[in-house]
Amino acid sequence: MSFGPAIRRPLVLAVANQKGGVGKTTTAVNLAAGLAIAGVRTALLDLDGQGSASATFRWESSTGEPRDAATMFARELPLTSVLLETHVPGLSLVPAGDSLAGIDAKLATSFGRERILARCVASVREGAPEAVVIDTAPYLGLVTLNALVAADYLVVPVSCEYLPMLGLRLLHRTLEDVRRRYGARAEVLGYLLTMYDRREAITVEVEGILRRTFGDLVFPQPARVDTRHKASPSHKKTIFEFEGPSGRGRSDYAALVEEVLRRLRQRGHHPGAPPPPSFG
Ligand SMILES: Nc1ncnc2c1ncn2[C@@H]1O[C@H](COP(=O)(O)OP(=O)(O)O)[C@@H](O)[C@H]1O
Ligand SMILES: [Mg+2]
Repeated sequence: MSFGPAIRRPLVLAVANQKGGVGKTTTAVNLAAGLAIAGVRTALLDLDGQGSASATFRWESSTGEPRDAATMFARELPLTSVLLETHVPGLSLVPAGDSLAGIDAKLATSFGRERILARCVASVREGAPEAVVIDTAPYLGLVTLNALVAADYLVVPVSCEYLPMLGLRLLHRTLEDVRRRYGARAEVLGYLLTMYDRREAITVEVEGILRRTFGDLVFPQPARVDTRHKASPSHKKTIFEFEGPSGRGRSDYAALVEEVLRRLRQRGHHPGAPPPPSFG
């Protein structure tokens, strides 16, 4: 019998909020890239049928079976078998796939259909990432539900353009339900203020409400308004490649990555740390 290096189930971080246009995709892409840059082997899993997170990257279309989220769900494949390398070292990608939008209906009658992703992630093999960052769709279909059930932690972007409490109450009800019915952890790791502009009254109001309601769970550094977030995906670049070190978007997401790692360490996780000596 041989003991290889310990292969652990990756930590799953879902970026979620059922509201559209709040910065989920921007946050998922740059959190995943930032974790990889920080030395955490990371996979970005695009679970929005629109495929906007995938659009930041180029990949070789495979000749065999398609490597994408739709195929992973349909055949219940291990996550590690559908990973594609990206141009960012340490970051792999599972693109959404053309048929992801139709997968909800297709899975409607499958057995244990809420836990398909949890099983795909748990079925770890050699080459497993340490962290999986999921970009989710702006509605609660079966695919999004799978993301919440598989999630250890959630990062919740909250746009400073609208009053958020109604939507957040809905999210919290869903999370309670997911924990109770499916035994998911699905713990909110933090709320990220996005589209943040201190000169706007609405920003000040949203920040006040959020910090009063959730205290330290709100990430200290918001993601400020930065038009470069809109431009970078069409150049196939993450904000870390598109902006210089003093860029606003880049420094905001660098701060997010640092804080996420700090909060994970507080909870006993050490992604990116050297593996313990193996006793094989
Ligand atoms: N901090 C920001 N400043 C300016 N524009 C942003 C910021 N974050 C995201 N955007 C832009 O806002 C739009 C919606 O963001 P996106 O990440 O796609 O949200 P979601 O995935 O929640 O729909 C996109 O055009 C995106 O480029
Ligand atoms: Mg999106």
